[in-house]
Amino acid sequence: SMRRTLYRRAPKWQAPSRSPRKARRLGKLALIGAGGVGGNIAHLTSRADMAEEIVLIDIAPGMAAATALDLNHTSGITGAAGRCIGGETLDLVSGAEVIVVTAGRARSPGMTRADLIDVNARVIRQAGEAIRSEAPNAVVIVVTNPLDEMTTEMLRVTGFPRERVLGMAGTLDSSRFRNALAMMAGVSPADVDAITLGSHGEEMAPIPSRATIKGRPLNVFLSEEQVKACVKDAITGGGQVVALKKSGSATIAPAHATIELIDHMRGARTGPVPVSVMLNGEYGIDDVVLGVPAHLGQGGMIKIEELRLTEAETAALHTAADAIRTRLAT
Ligand code: LMR
Repeated sequence: SMRRTLYRRAPKWQAPSRSPRKARRLGKLALIGAGGVGGNIAHLTSRADMAEEIVLIDIAPGMAAATALDLNHTSGITGAAGRCIGGETLDLVSGAEVIVVTAGRARSPGMTRADLIDVNARVIRQAGEAIRSEAPNAVVIVVTNPLDEMTTEMLRVTGFPRERVLGMAGTLDSSRFRNALAMMAGVSPADVDAITLGSHGEEMAPIPSRATIKGRPLNVFLSEEQVKACVKDAITGGGQVVALKKSGSATIAPAHATIELIDHMRGARTGPVPVSVMLNGEYGIDDVVLGVPAHLGQGGMIKIEELRLTEAETAALHTAADAIRTRLAT
C-alpha cells in the first residue's frame, strides 16, 4: 500500500546537523512575552545577531523596553548589528517575519499544562488577532502552554495556513530525552539520536525504537528499565523544573529549542526537526496539532517526515490526538 511504501522509504531519525551553508539573517523577529523564555530568546538571538531587528512585547510596564535597552548595551561587546526595541502594545509585531509567542501563565507545582487552557487561550486570541492584522505574512512559533491546544487556537484565530503556525515543544522534549539517554549510558549527547512525538503534555510519546546510541539500538547500551526511566524523564522533565522552582517553569531549554526552529528556518540547520503542526492525514491522523518531525524553511513548515513506528508508538500518537481533541471540545 501507499503507506507501506512511505514507511519503507522513510529515513531513520537523525538529529539535525549543522549545515555548511551560510545562514540567512531574519528581518524582524517579534517576541510576544518578554518573561523568562522570551527574554532568553532575545538574549540568544541578539548575541548571535540572528535578526536585523528584535522586538520585545510585554504587558508588564517598562519590562520589554528595559530588556531591549539592556540588550542594545551589549552590542559594543558582541558587535551585533541587530537592534532591539521593546514596548507594551501588540501593534509592535507589525511587519514581523517571525513571531514567537511565549505570553501567558506558567503552571505551578501540581498543575498539568492542560490546566492553563482557559486562561492562556485568551492571551493567544489577543495575540493572534494582532498578528492577523499587523503581520499577515509572518511565521508564528507558539510556546505558550498547553502547547498543542494553543497552537490550534493560533491557527484558528489567524486563519494562517498550517505551514506558518508551528508549536515549539518536540525539540525541547527530544532534547530532554536525548540528555536522559546520554546521562544513563554515560556517553556524549552528540552520540545519541532520539526523538519525541505526540503532545507536549501527559500523552507525550518518546520513540525509543527510533533512538540510537553511537548508531546502535538502545538495547546495546541500556536495559529496558533504563530506557523506561529515560522515557519518563522526557515526559516529566518540564514538571521536574516546575517542582523545583515552585513558581514559574523552565526558561533556558525552551528558549534554545525555539532558536533551533528559527535556525532551521534561516538555513543554519538542515534535516527534520520535531515540531507541532496541524496533521492532515499524516501518521493516519487528521485535523489535530501534534508533534512530528518536519523540514522547515523560510516560509515555515516545508514537509512532514513520516517515520516508521512500532504499533505501540503509533497507538501512543493516536491516544495523544484523541486527548487533544477532547480537551479542545470541552
Ligand atoms: C516545559 O516543558 O518546560 C514547559 O512546557 C513548561 C512546563 O509547564 O513544563
